[in-house]
Amino acid sequence: MKQIDLDKIELIEIRKISDPDGRGNLSVIEKDVLPFVIKRVYYLYDVPSSSSRGGHAHKKLQQFLIALSGSFDVVLDNGTQRRNMTLNRPDRGLLIPNGIWRELEHFSSGAVCLSLVSAEYDESDYIRDYDAYLERVKK
Ligand code: TYD
Repeated sequence: MKQIDLDKIELIEIRKISDPDGRGNLSVIEKDVLPFVIKRVYYLYDVPSSSSRGGHAHKKLQQFLIALSGSFDVVLDNGTQRRNMTLNRPDRGLLIPNGIWRELEHFSSGAVCLSLVSAEYDESDYIRDYDAYLERVKK
């Protein structure tokens, strides 16, 4: 599996349209914002602050995560480096390529994590065992 330098993983700005009359903000993801076609949308919510989500890598799936509300941390791991990214803005998202181990933790009260992904749900695309993941990235 191709190993991706974690320094190359970036937060992507999402266009924000602020209402001139103070009616709030609207953000939109369309066309070229993401390098993949969105095939599935899901969201995490009511996650206790002591709980961790993720804990897997994907063989092919690409993912874009946005903190629609509140905040949480995303720990990225490529087998040799680890990097922590905090998501706390609805107008910025984290693009996670395939082949990266991720853990989501420290959810604030009321946090909502929106996930836009490149494929339908397929359990065979998951690598859920960290040692198996390390074996794959070393190959
Ligand atoms: P999982 O991907 O393990 O959640 P997380 O990584 O956030 O901890 O999914 C949790 C459960 O939900 C698991 O049994 C699979 C199921 N699931 C679906 O059925 N469809 C989906 O689109 C997703 C994301 C999960």
